[in-house]
Amino acid sequence: MEVIQNSSVSLGTTDIKVAPVGLGAWAWGDTMVWSYGKGYDDDDIKEAFNVSINKGVNFIDTAEIYGKGKSEELIGTFLKATEAETVIATKFMPYPWRVTKNSLREALMKSLKRLQVDRVDLYQTHWPFPPVPVKRWMDAMADAVDDGLVKAVGVSNYSKDQMLRASEQLAKRNIRLASNQVEYSLWRRRPETSGLIDTCNELGVTLIAYSPLAMGMLTGKYSPANPPPGIRGKRYGRNKLVRLEKLTGLMRELGENHNGKSPAQVALNWLICKGSVPIPGAKNAEQAEHNAGALGWKLSDEEVHLLDRESKK
Ligand SMILES: NC(=O)c1ccc[n+]([C@@H]2O[C@H](COP(=O)([O-])OP(=O)(O)OC[C@H]3O[C@@H](n4cnc5c(N)ncnc54)[C@H](OP(=O)(O)O)[C@@H]3O)[C@@H](O)[C@H]2O)c1
Repeated sequence: MEVIQNSSVSLGTTDIKVAPVGLGAWAWGDTMVWSYGKGYDDDDIKEAFNVSINKGVNFIDTAEIYGKGKSEELIGTFLKATEAETVIATKFMPYPWRVTKNSLREALMKSLKRLQVDRVDLYQTHWPFPPVPVKRWMDAMADAVDDGLVKAVGVSNYSKDQMLRASEQLAKRNIRLASNQVEYSLWRRRPETSGLIDTCNELGVTLIAYSPLAMGMLTGKYSPANPPPGIRGKRYGRNKLVRLEKLTGLMRELGENHNGKSPAQVALNWLICKGSVPIPGAKNAEQAEHNAGALGWKLSDEEVHLLDRESKK
């Protein structure tokens, strides 16, 4: 299989190198939003993993809650069957009943077991939920780094201020915050206006862009005539789908300038141009291969500008 040559990027200031596009594993085992088992199964997921790795996509994002652990379990099995170098990120969910520092360690040990590894490359707090202050989780993260269980520390869904607090707390233990994973796409550009991107740049923190295809909407396959199924259908109602059609129309047009790249590939490439690392979800080999096609080329500044303008509407 052809390996697309890409320059890799570092996660924050760490020496962990990842391809500029990663792979999200939320749908791997999830029945609430993604209908795991209907239309795609473990064999499809295994192929999505293998195709991604073969195409040079080495960064895989999961979480303890995805499919209630199933996503991590599947990744653990796939890792056992490959010699390829991967970068695995998972997440700790600060449920309200998890109030002690030790609860992070307990969750981490379970994740490591499911992933069948001794150490995870990137460990992230999934949400900045109360009541536990950011400081306590960062102390627990620092302990995990010191004990060799975690290579780099990230956060997710943290605001600018929460991220600054996390960064300051880790700095007391000589650890640099590596990443903040937030929703960012041509459909959702809040990280630009909230100042989050500027602060990430100042701190040397990588912005990992989740739902980079707006949960599939930026692929151009959904429309008012063909709305998405399930919960996504409620989130992206008719009005939004009408607006999205205009945007995906421009994406399709610009893709033509690059040997017929698709809206999905343009959406991901736009995020690379913005300096973030998108982690599109893929349910099967076809989607994985397609998304890897966002690598190895670049939109021009003018095209990025056109997309900026259209998506603001
Ligand atoms: N930290 C957080 O709170 C958080 C929240 C959300 C997501 N995430 C992470 O971000 C990752 C990606 O986000 P996401 O899964 O929400 O959404 P996404 O990547 O924007 O969209 C993924 C979905 O789009 C469709 N799709 C993907 N590639 C396609 C292609 N090439 N052609 C056609 N359809 C395609 C598939 O669904 P269909 O085939 O069913 O349309 C796929 O499941 C997650 O897996 C997870 O790792 C993190």
